[in-house]
Amino acid sequence: AIDPQFDQNREKAGTHEGHDVWGPVEEPEQLGIHGTHVAVDFDICLADGACLKDCPVDVFEWVDTPGHPESEIKADPANEAQCIDCMLCVDVCPVDAIDVDSG
Ligand code: SF4
Ligand code: F3S
Ligand code: ZN
Repeated sequence: AIDPQFDQNREKAGTHEGHDVWGPVEEPEQLGIHGTHVAVDFDICLADGACLKDCPVDVFEWVDTPGHPESEIKADPANEAQCIDCMLCVDVCPVDAIDVDSG
């Protein structure tokens, strides 16, 4: 599961589409965590798609991640600022790849 303390335990490795990326990143095998308020551990995501389907405000968008061992697409929190903290995505992800900081 994603480490809910990722913002303390990881270093920022850069940005992607306006959100932070938390390392380590070693493309294409290791991609880190995308987002901060809505955070997706790309190294755990296996492209189930429930988060895209269920998010009521369309926070997530697919991004291509060719060569990653878990899946070659990931749910990117492209619109994390729209999040209304409903926690649906956290509940439906089968591999607990998502953390939403609702505190
Ligand atoms: Fe979307 Fe709700 Fe998840 Fe926020 S907590 S990203 S609104 S499903
Ligand atoms: Fe990935 Fe979980 Fe969404 S596996 S696509 S973050 S439901
Ligand atoms: Zn991203």
